[in-house]
Amino acid sequence: MEPREVESQYEGWLRGRSPVALYVRWYLRHRRPREAARIWEQIGKGIYPRVLDVGCAGGFYLRDAHERGHGGETLAGVDLSETLLEEARLRLAGISDDTHVVLERASATSLPFQGDVFDVVVSNGMVKYLDDDELGCFFAEARRVLVRGGHLCIAEFARPVGWGRIIDLDRIGIPTAHLRTGDQLANALARAGFIDVRSFDVDRIRRIPLTYEGAAGIRLHGAA
Ligand SMILES: C[S@@+](CC[C@H](N)C(=O)[O-])C[C@H]1O[C@@H](n2cnc3c(N)ncnc32)[C@H](O)[C@@H]1O
Repeated sequence: MEPREVESQYEGWLRGRSPVALYVRWYLRHRRPREAARIWEQIGKGIYPRVLDVGCAGGFYLRDAHERGHGGETLAGVDLSETLLEEARLRLAGISDDTHVVLERASATSLPFQGDVFDVVVSNGMVKYLDDDELGCFFAEARRVLVRGGHLCIAEFARPVGWGRIIDLDRIGIPTAHLRTGDQLANALARAGFIDVRSFDVDRIRRIPLTYEGAAGIRLHGAA
C-alpha cells in the first residue's frame, strides 16, 4: 500500500465508529505488546542499548523494550501516522534523560538514520504493507542502519486460518496480498544478506484468527 493510503486508513480507524475501528483503537492504545517476549527471545540474551522499532505506532514495543533494559542509549521509532507518533511521544516521555528518544514520520523503505547506529531493529505487524520490492528496500535499510552483528527481528500475520479464511480481510482493512509465512520471510532475509536467519512462530492470534509468524536474522558482517 502507498504510505499515504496506510496513513489515511489508520487516521480513519483512529476516529471511526465501526467495529473494526473500535477494535483497532483498542489494539493500538490498550493491548499489551503480547508478541514482545517472543521477539526478544529470538533476538538473544544480550542487553541492546540502541533499538529501532519500524512501524512503532503508539510506542508500546519501545516502552516494553525500555522496561526489559534495552534502548538505554537510543530508543527510536518510525511510523507513517503522526497521530500514533504523538501518542508514542507521550508514552515515552519521562524516560531517563540519558536515553535519546527519536520518533519520526518515515517509511520503512527509507529510514532517516545514519548507517551503523542500531544494535536491534524490530518490526511487528508492519511488513504486510510492503510488496516484495519494498520488503527488499526495508531489509536493505535495516542492514544499513544496523551495526555489524546487529539483529533484525520481524513478526507478522501469516496464513489466514479459521475465521480468517471466511472473513474478507481486505474489506476490513487487513491487506492480504503480502502475507508471508515465517519461512518466506526468513528466505527473503537470507537473500538480503542476513545470516543466522530463522523463522519462528508467535502464538496464533485468537481475535483476528490469523497465524502469526516471524523471522529473525543477524546482519552479515562486512557485506556490500
Ligand atoms: C498493525 S500496526 C502495528 C503497530 C505496532 N508495531 C504493534 O505491533 O502494535 C502497523 C503499523 O505499521 C505502520 N506502517 C505501515 N506501513 C509502514 C511503512 N511503510 N513504514 C512505516 N510504518 C508503516 C502503520 O502506520 C501502523 O502503525
